[in-house]
Amino acid sequence: MAIPYRITGGHSRRSPLPLPTARAILAAVITGAVLSILCVLSFTHSFSYLGFQPRSVDKRESSRKYLYWGARIDCPGKHCSSCAGLGHQESSLRCALEEALFLDRIFVMPSRMCLSSVHNTKGIIDSSNATSNPRWETSYCAMESLYDIDLISKTVPVVLDNPRSWYGIVSRSTKLGEGDVVHVQGVSRDELKDNPLYSDALLVNRTASPLAWFMECKDRTKRTSVMLPYTFLPTMPARKLRVAARKIKEILGEYDAIHVRRGDLLKNRKDRFGVERSLHPHLDRDTRPEFIKRRIAKWIPKGRTLFIASNERTPGFFSPLSDRYKLAYSSNFSSILEPIIENNYQLFMVERLIMQGAKTFVKTMKELDSDLALCDDPKKNTKNWEVPVYTR
Ligand SMILES: *[C@@H]1O[C@H](CO)[C@@H](O)[C@H](O)[C@H]1NC(C)=O
Ligand SMILES: *[C@@H]1O[C@H](CO)[C@@H](O)[C@H](O)[C@H]1NC(C)=O
Ligand SMILES: *[C@@H]1O[C@H](CO)[C@@H](O)[C@H](O)[C@H]1NC(C)=O
Repeated sequence: MAIPYRITGGHSRRSPLPLPTARAILAAVITGAVLSILCVLSFTHSFSYLGFQPRSVDKRESSRKYLYWGARIDCPGKHCSSCAGLGHQESSLRCALEEALFLDRIFVMPSRMCLSSVHNTKGIIDSSNATSNPRWETSYCAMESLYDIDLISKTVPVVLDNPRSWYGIVSRSTKLGEGDVVHVQGVSRDELKDNPLYSDALLVNRTASPLAWFMECKDRTKRTSVMLPYTFLPTMPARKLRVAARKIKEILGEYDAIHVRRGDLLKNRKDRFGVERSLHPHLDRDTRPEFIKRRIAKWIPKGRTLFIASNERTPGFFSPLSDRYKLAYSSNFSSILEPIIENNYQLFMVERLIMQGAKTFVKTMKELDSDLALCDDPKKNTKNWEVPVYTR
């Protein structure tokens, strides 16, 4: 749905006008402003009827202005199937939320998240017959089925961009002639905050990189204040997902966990001599049970309960670990998960909460220096395709 917007540069607010005209315009602007404030307030009020709670937690009531980054995280076209996985999309979403926080604006969140086909082709719960399960085939899901929007709103006020709430606000205020939708591209965060041309607008429609929103936060490492940590969104899953994770953690008691990423990261390709090459040459080896066992022995004592989250689909792949550990997978808890899990993103979010509750947690690859990891290959920015190593 196309919503009319005003290109910032084309506005002639600053040109001198004959006094009576200026007065008339001023009066009109004030009337419009009052009307739009009333309008926004009444819409805010009606959120409660539509299932959106008024954000009473938000103490910045006077600044009910909006920030919009687009209808889909990271997705340029119609093809949800070519989207990035949950991790990338979360980085992007966090970047946008951070900007809303910085600008003190309500973030207009896409109401759906694309499910990447690469990361969602197979179910985990019933891995023996996963491809036949039609529930895994949808290519997007409702944002509310993944995240607790109210919980996020306690930190960054958020409204979903669904027609009921969001478009109502935009079209109403546009009709009043006081739409104040500015469309920006390539404008820095600081300028959006300081330049009244943008800061006074009811809605800032930013055109973020459609390929990867998180590019807008590229210089994040250099910035002195990181407003939202990487851990923010992983702690915000929808209530039913958090409840499921809590139940599973209770059943597990005290446990350790490993996250074993195989499938998606084990992408090999052949060079021109037909030799297999990989970006993570030790990963395939290091994520096999014999190597895992040797690696984690110094961190996780024999006899412990070990929760394994993995995208490995081979049945019994990790069974060799069972001579040292009591193994548990999400498939052990299908009675809790089956009724609520509709896609792999939700499942991973539950698994991630479980992993967070582990006494000792071993990742696939290090992200921070303090992380324990199965494999010493660098996770990011590897550009060298190397021959995989299988020997010790
Ligand atoms: C935001 O800008 C995009 C790109 O120009 C446009 O297609 C879209 O309709 C705008 N949305 C709103 C709500 O203004
Ligand atoms: C997988 O599911 C399909 C349809 O539900 C069924 O026909 C088939 O026999 C199942 N295969 C296995 C190996 O269980
Ligand atoms: C989980 O299921 C596996 C078989 O799939 C079984 O060997 C293991 O003991 C179960 N773990 C728990 C904690 O029930």
